[in-house]
Amino acid sequence: MWKLVIGGIVIGTVSYGVIKYFAGGVCNCKARLDGLVIIITGANSGIGKALSKELAKRGATLILACRDIQKGIDLKQEIINSGYLNVFQIYVKSLDLNSFDSIYKFSQSINEEFHEIYALVNNAGVFYHPQKLTKDKFDVTYQTNYLGPFILTHYLLKILKRSEHSRIINVTSEAHRNVNVYDLKAVSNCQAEFRSHFTAYGVSKLGVLLFTKELAKKLKCTNIIVNAANPGNVETPIYRNFPPLSNPWLFALQWPIRKIVVKSPIQGAQTILHSLLTSNRSTGQYYSDCKLCLPSPIALDDHLSREYYEFTLELLGNKFLTESEC
Ligand SMILES: NC(=O)c1ccc[n+]([C@@H]2O[C@H](COP(=O)([O-])OP(=O)(O)OC[C@H]3O[C@@H](n4cnc5c(N)ncnc54)[C@H](OP(=O)(O)O)[C@@H]3O)[C@@H](O)[C@H]2O)c1
Repeated sequence: MWKLVIGGIVIGTVSYGVIKYFAGGVCNCKARLDGLVIIITGANSGIGKALSKELAKRGATLILACRDIQKGIDLKQEIINSGYLNVFQIYVKSLDLNSFDSIYKFSQSINEEFHEIYALVNNAGVFYHPQKLTKDKFDVTYQTNYLGPFILTHYLLKILKRSEHSRIINVTSEAHRNVNVYDLKAVSNCQAEFRSHFTAYGVSKLGVLLFTKELAKKLKCTNIIVNAANPGNVETPIYRNFPPLSNPWLFALQWPIRKIVVKSPIQGAQTILHSLLTSNRSTGQYYSDCKLCLPSPIALDDHLSREYYEFTLELLGNKFLTESEC
């Protein structure tokens, strides 16, 4: 009998340890955000949705930036029903990162309706998206994950500068490590040619890290800090196009394993939350599992971050130069 009890305790302890390990870091910061305005892109789903609910609990005024406005309205209602915020503390706004025009209109409305913004969370993203060009003639993965947030951030710099302290959090991924400089240049230079969806995703997320580093340097004499956050592997609809998970049978079969090794959306939101709340005001950093981490050596390359920033400005017709200066 006692063997069974000890066996049970050992199995229970090991399982608990394994589940805790894969659940990742937890943001223990108790700070509140009453009255501070935070923009969350891709707020209606997965990590963005979990993050929005958590920020609501802390009293932040939310701008839910969603490409499907109805999904944003549904989330707004859910948050109001939870009792943490009232109808005047949540704004739902249309934003499609695959349209420069939409990004411009979104930013215009923010600049017109708000006096200051505390934080911008560039969370929206796609993974393993089929090769397709947006109407601005960029690859969907590249524009949604990299160019769109790049432009949006520049359009909002003026209003972010008005807040006493403000933060930009760019959501990235460990997938940036799979990319070398050749991939980065090849994908960036050619938007129409077929390539691996994995590489396209990795390139977009490496771009986010290089952008974070370079923008942080440019803004170092301002009130804005810019950091990147990796949520880890999280169970969300982002895997809808990924073959091992888009097949309903395989998806169901893998469920018990995913339950252990893949984070829930609220667990995935912890690192973003931590980077929004931490009292550490260092900038240009990479957070993973609620800790400062080193990204890949390429993402740390000073020369490359400067070069890639310049390259991106050229790609966009040098529209944002003045906005990024201190
Ligand atoms: N899940 C993971 O394992 C994981 C790991 C590392 C990094 N990440 C990153 O975490 C972020 C959030 O992903 P998630 O896992 O929460 O995925 P998700 O549930 O699919 O959420 C992605 C959000 O981005 C929005 N979005 C997609 N394309 C857009 C566009 N063109 N314009 C505006 N919004 C757009 C989606 O809107 P719709 O609902 O309308 O599609 C959705 O709200 C992404 O940047 C992702 O790369 C996720």
